[in-house]
This record gives sequence, structure tokens and C-alpha cells, in this order.
Amino acid sequence: MSRQPLLSSQAQNGEESVLTNLRPRSLSEYIGQRSVVENLSIAIRAARERGEPLEHILFSGPPGLGKTTLAHVIAEEMESSIVTSSGPSLERAADLVGILTNLKAGEVLFIDEIHRLPRVVEEYLYPAMEDFQIDFVLDPGPHARTVRLSLARFTIVGATTRAGLLTGPLRDRFGLSLHLAFYSVEELVSIVTRSAGLLGIPISPAASEAVAMRARGTPRIANRLLKRVRDFAQIARKEGIDEDTAVEAMDVHGVDEAGLDSLDRRYLRIIIEQYSGGPVGVSALAATLNEEQDTLIDVVEPFLLAAGFLNRTSRGRCATPRACRHLGLPALPVQDLFEPGRGGGG
Ligand code: ADE
Repeated sequence: MSRQPLLSSQAQNGEESVLTNLRPRSLSEYIGQRSVVENLSIAIRAARERGEPLEHILFSGPPGLGKTTLAHVIAEEMESSIVTSSGPSLERAADLVGILTNLKAGEVLFIDEIHRLPRVVEEYLYPAMEDFQIDFVLDPGPHARTVRLSLARFTIVGATTRAGLLTGPLRDRFGLSLHLAFYSVEELVSIVTRSAGLLGIPISPAASEAVAMRARGTPRIANRLLKRVRDFAQIARKEGIDEDTAVEAMDVHGVDEAGLDSLDRRYLRIIIEQYSGGPVGVSALAATLNEEQDTLIDVVEPFLLAAGFLNRTSRGRCATPRACRHLGLPALPVQDLFEPGRGGGG
């Protein structure tokens, strides 16, 4: 039984459903994240041997690295089903209580963006996760009554792009906390090759590598690029995807050799040209770029930091010499950290 479509917050049509179909369904199919997969595999085997539900699991890391995929894999490996939800969609305690009381033993409740769960809702989750009980207040006000509800033993899989924003009590209630890191180019080559096979389109090793190198360490981006490249190959009446077609398609889509897109390049260019290379606060950058601050923190910055285009200091973001070279801009003057007015002196 799958209850997935019922409460899913994700689009179930078009591109997202194709990307969903490319997801691995078991740990043995899963490429990369070796230590995460190993830890999960042991926890799942041990829980199954004991005949118990799996402990609650928290996944953290940038978007597109496989947090949702792993939640589905866990349900599959536990031979159970998954109910999906997200922090922002659980606006009221009653929303959460409704879901929790309908869960069956061993089922997985996936809560995406769990750091955005409202505090009042989060407080209902503590006894639910720890004791599989909730105290629900009926008729709030002078005649309030509390009813204690017993829940089936379920597993919460939480996902967050910002582990640092989780409260201590919530973090403490997860038995395993696993961080997903960016994938290597070799791992992405394997993912692109596997996905091309599932899509039924031949791809040369050089083309797989070109896609992998521009995928920002992220399988979701690799699979998106693969689909754009496939469109190009199809329109050019090619038998399969060769390197030239892949590179041309990605160039046309504005994705450069380092995997940066137009927002990444605008972000770095503004730091360099308008803020003399930094340091500059993220709120100033968000205002200048007319973008959400959360988008910059969750989507843009993690890869720029990991790839050495950006440094984050206590006084703000700084572009690196590598960023200047990549954009073809003159090197920044070496900053004197003790220069009066830059806040570094004293
Ligand atoms: N598709 C998306 N992510 C994947 C992964 N980690 N392994 C295999 N296929 C994938």
C-alpha cells in the first residue's frame, strides 16, 4: 500500500514526476553518501531483526541531495508505507494530530523542511516522538479538557536544509542525525548514466561527465540537466547524447563549466563589483539581487562555499580570488583587515 499521493506536498505531474521516477528505490541502488547509506543499512537491519519500527531519523543538507529519496527508500526497506508532509503545511496542532492518529505501526511520516514547523505544533511532536502519546486540548479556554491519545509506533523522518535552526528538544528526539554532503563528479557520472538508461537514451561517457561536472554536486540538478540535454539531442536527430550536444545544451541554458547559473554569477558579481569583494551581509545581497534571503542561504551559497567561490566570515560574505578569475574580473586588492572602518581593527 502506498499512501504517498494523499498528503504529498510535491507536484505529482510533469518534470517532478519524471525526476521522482529516476529515484533509487532501495539502498542497494543508491549511489553516493556512503557513510549515510551504511549507517541506515545497519539501523534498518537491526530494527527489522528486532521486529521494531525504525528510530526517528533526521536528514540535513542542501536541497536536491536525496533527503526525500532516502525517506522513501527507508519506507520501502522497512516494507512499510510513507505519509509525506512539510513543516510549513502543518499550520495548526490539529493538522499534525490528525496525521499522527491515522498512522499505522511502522509507518514513516516524512516531514520536509522540519525547521519551519510552527513552535506550537512542534511541542505536540515531543511526546509523540518519545512516548507515542499526545495530549490534545479540547475546547481551549475556561472549560478546556485534555484528552490523552495513544499512537501506533511510527517513525518520523525529518528533513532540513538548516540543521542549525532546529530547537534542541526536537533535535534530541531523533535517534540518528545524518548529514548529506555534495556528491563527487564520479558519483554524479554514475547517476547520470543510470538515469539515461532509465530514460532509454544512449549517452557517451564524455557527455555523462560533462553533465556531472556542471551539476553542482547535486543529483537533482544532474537529472534536470540530463533532460534538457536529451531535448537537444532529440531535436538534432541524434541517436544518443554526445559531448558536443551536452555542452551546447548546457551553455544555452546558461550553466557554465563550473555549474554556475545566472543567479550564482549575478550573486558573485554583485559582491565583487558593488561591495568591493565583501564582506557583505546576506540581507544586503538579497535586497540588491531582489531575491529571497532563504534562497540565497539554502540554494545559492552552499555550493559556492563548497566550490571555493565564496567565504563566509563573521562580518559577512566575501568573494574569493577564484570567483574573480571565473568571472574574468580583475583580482581584488588584498584586504587589510585592520583598515579603519572595515570593523577589523581595535
Ligand atoms: N537519482 C537521484 N539520486 C540518486 C542516487 N543517489 N543514486 C542513484 N540514483 C539517483
